[in-house]
Amino acid sequence: MSSEPTNDQPDQTEPTAHPGRRLSRRHLLLGGAAAGIGAAGAIGVDLVAKAGRGGSAAPAVPLFSGTATVPFFGLHQAGVDTEPQARATFVALNLLPGVDRAALRRMMRILTDDAARLTQGEAALADSEPELAVVPARLTVTFGFGPGLVAIAGGEAPGWLRPLPPFTIDRLQPEWSDGDLLLQIAADDPLTVAHATRMLLKDLRSFAAVRWVQSGFRRAAGSEKPGTTMRNLFGQVDGTANPVVGTADFDALVWGQANNPGWLAGGTGFVLRRISMDLDKWDGLDRSGRESTMGRTLANGAPLTGTKERDEPDFEAKTSLGFPVIPEFSHLRRARSEDRSQRIHRRGYNYDEAPSGTGVSNSGLLFACFQTDVDAQFVPIQTRLDTLDLLNQWTTPIGSAVFAIPPGCTPEGYIGDTLF
Ligand code: HEM
Repeated sequence: MSSEPTNDQPDQTEPTAHPGRRLSRRHLLLGGAAAGIGAAGAIGVDLVAKAGRGGSAAPAVPLFSGTATVPFFGLHQAGVDTEPQARATFVALNLLPGVDRAALRRMMRILTDDAARLTQGEAALADSEPELAVVPARLTVTFGFGPGLVAIAGGEAPGWLRPLPPFTIDRLQPEWSDGDLLLQIAADDPLTVAHATRMLLKDLRSFAAVRWVQSGFRRAAGSEKPGTTMRNLFGQVDGTANPVVGTADFDALVWGQANNPGWLAGGTGFVLRRISMDLDKWDGLDRSGRESTMGRTLANGAPLTGTKERDEPDFEAKTSLGFPVIPEFSHLRRARSEDRSQRIHRRGYNYDEAPSGTGVSNSGLLFACFQTDVDAQFVPIQTRLDTLDLLNQWTTPIGSAVFAIPPGCTPEGYIGDTLF
C-alpha cells in the first residue's frame, strides 16, 4: 500500500498547524529532488499562503518554488523516476549525414554539459538568455538513443530497439514517429522548458535536425499535493497502478537489465505513443458508460468494486444481474496482466492543440512509459488492448517511437559514455 497522496481527498488544501512537519513530509515526497534543493528552495517550495479574504486564515495552499533542482549526475538519468513535473517537451532528432562516432561523442559531451548546468539553475555555456536559466523548477533533461544512433556508435542494440510491431488500432503519422535522438525536457515551469529546449537544440544544430516536437502538461505545480495521480483530458485519474518509485518492484521493472547489452546497465527502455482522444465523441457518453469503459470511478479513480483510489479491483464481483462489476472489456481489465513482469512505468502528459475540421478539440495523451524490455513488457499490454479494449472507441494512436535511455553519468563522464 503506497502512502502517496491519492485522489480520495479532492480538497487539495490542508491545515497549516504544523508547517514544519509538512516541509519534511513534502521533501520526502520529492525524493531525490530534495537533496538538490538549496536553502532558498527549501523555504520557497513549502511556503504556505495564509492570507485570506478579510484577514481570516485561509486553507493552506502549497506554493511552488522555481529554485528546486533535481540532481543531474548519478547511476540513472533523471526524469524517469522523478516525480513528474508539470510540463514536458519531447523532441526527436535525425542525425545529419556524415555524423560519425567521434562526432556523436562530441555531441553528447556538449549536451551533457548543457543539461548538467541548466538543471542546476546555471546558464549553459554561451547561453544567449542566461537570465532564463536561474529558475530550474525541477528541470530534468533525459536523453534517449534510437536504433540509428546506436548503429553509428557501433554498439550492440537491445533486441527491442526498433519500431513497435503494427497494431490494428494504429493510425500512425510519420511526423510523430521514430527518430535517432530523444530529448525529454521536463520542468514545473514552461519558460524553463522552452529555454532549455532552445539551448539544447542550438548546440545540436551541427549534428542533428529536429524530426518532431511534442509538448504536454499536467496540473500546474503547486495546484495540488505533490504525488497526486494526474488526470487526463477524459477527466480520469491516470497512473494509479504504476509501480512505486524506490521499491524493488520498480527497480526490476524499470532498471532491471534482463537481456540488455552491458552499456545499458543503469538505463532503461522508453516508448512514446501519441494517442489522440476524441473528446467530442466522449461527450456523448454518460458518466456510468465512462466509468464502465475504464472499470474505475471518475470521482477518485477507485475500481468499480472499491471506494478508494488504491483499492485492489475485485474482478470476480458480479452485479445483481450476474454481470461482472468491472466489465470484461474495460481498459482496467484488459491492461492488467496476470504476469506481474508485464508491467510498465507510465509517465504521460496531456496535449491540447488547435482543433481542425468540425470538432472543437484536438487533444490526447503523450503516453510515455519506461520499462527495461519493451518487447516483454509494453508489447504484450498493447497487443491485448489492440485485440479488445472499450477505450479504443475514443482513442487512436497517431505517433509511436522507441528509444533506449542510457544510464546516468559521473561529473567526469557524459551521457552515453558507456556506449562510446
Ligand atoms: C489515450 C489512451 C489511454 C488512456 C486515456 C488511458 C487511461 C488509463 C486509466 C484512466 C487507467 C486507470 C488508472 C491507472 O492505473 O492508471 C489506465 C490504466 C492502465 N493503462 Fe491506460 N490509458 C491509455 C492507453 C494505454 C496504453 C496505450 C497502454 C499500454 C500499452 C496502457 C496501459 C495501462 C496499464 C498497464 C494500466 C494499469 C492497469 C492495472 O491496473 O494494472 N494504457 N489507463
